[in-house]
Amino acid sequence: MKKKIIPFDSFIDQALYAKKEGYYSRNNPFGKKGDFITAPAISFLFGEMIAIWLIFFWENLKKPKKINIIELGPGDGKLIKILLKTFAKFPDFNKCVNIFLYEKSENLIKIQKKELKNKNIKWLKNFNVLKRGPVIFLGNEFFDAVAIKQFVKKDKVILEKYVDIRKKNKPKILLKKTNLKTIKELKKFNLLKKNGIIEYPKLGLVEINNFIKKINKFGGGILLIDYGYINQINFSSIQSIKKHKKNRLFDNIGNADITSLVNFGMLNNYFKNKKLKVNEIVTQGFFLKKLGIISRAELLSKNMSFKEKTDLYYRLKRLLHPNYMGEIFKVIFAYKSKKKFTLGFK
Ligand SMILES: C[S@@+](CC[C@H](N)C(=O)[O-])C[C@H]1O[C@@H](n2cnc3c(N)ncnc32)[C@H](O)[C@@H]1O
Repeated sequence: MKKKIIPFDSFIDQALYAKKEGYYSRNNPFGKKGDFITAPAISFLFGEMIAIWLIFFWENLKKPKKINIIELGPGDGKLIKILLKTFAKFPDFNKCVNIFLYEKSENLIKIQKKELKNKNIKWLKNFNVLKRGPVIFLGNEFFDAVAIKQFVKKDKVILEKYVDIRKKNKPKILLKKTNLKTIKELKKFNLLKKNGIIEYPKLGLVEINNFIKKINKFGGGILLIDYGYINQINFSSIQSIKKHKKNRLFDNIGNADITSLVNFGMLNNYFKNKKLKVNEIVTQGFFLKKLGIISRAELLSKNMSFKEKTDLYYRLKRLLHPNYMGEIFKVIFAYKSKKKFTLGFK
């Protein structure tokens, strides 16, 4: 029998990924007609900058004959499309690169296969096929879509959030005593310093651990771009979105997106503990500017009509400006390489 009172992260995970009724199983949420728009769809310049960054990292690794790029949660496949297009302009790199997509939603895999027909790409469910060459994991808005746990802390009392789903259309939050093992885990990550809501990405860390194992074995790194914070906040960062508007968490279950902000400070410590080099976390605006996105736009706009130029710069503003995605989106890079690689971060 299905459990009727489930931990908060299991509830979100089911709301998003349950086989038939999960949000990502029955929707194509991307773009104007969907529920939200992500950076690769805002401007192709985003993908171009990531492509160039990847090629430079390959150079930093001394141009290995085989390099594996694994996109985490590729959504509707827009980013990988631009990457492939840009890589084709760099044949030395292009002949060394193997591209893999890591996607949890069968529905999105179908959409990706349609979008990326005839492209030399493989989908993978685990990382056993990666047997040779450094590995680069790349995730744009991946981690915010992995369900998190929540706890409520008041002084010495720490309660875990559960959701009572006995009444189908009326889920209810319940608080239960946190077991000692979990409290130890939270302490280990320094999450219990303040009172308030404590967020803990248990499922996300399981994923990250699998990536790190491969990075430690073959070299390479992990680049994550997402919205989030560096110093711990003590309130709930859960957001539900439908048709580009805020939605209440328990409304439209399975038909609205649910995300949370990423605790970049915690990821930073996690990566360091696993003996990876980690660059200082920067904002998306900083990262893209350092990679030359503005010069690239200037160059391209020389041959554009006024209307095209306006469109290009409007999109650039959405990616870079602090009032849009420029500041709330952060970039973290953890890696294993003999030489430091700080492109985009300094
Ligand atoms: C918010 S979307 C971002 C899509 C895309 N990267 C973009 O920037 O447009 C999150 C993506 O991560 C996928 N995802 C979430 N958790 C996952 C997991 N544990 N394993 C693989 N894919 C996952 C979702 O199915 C979806 O493709």
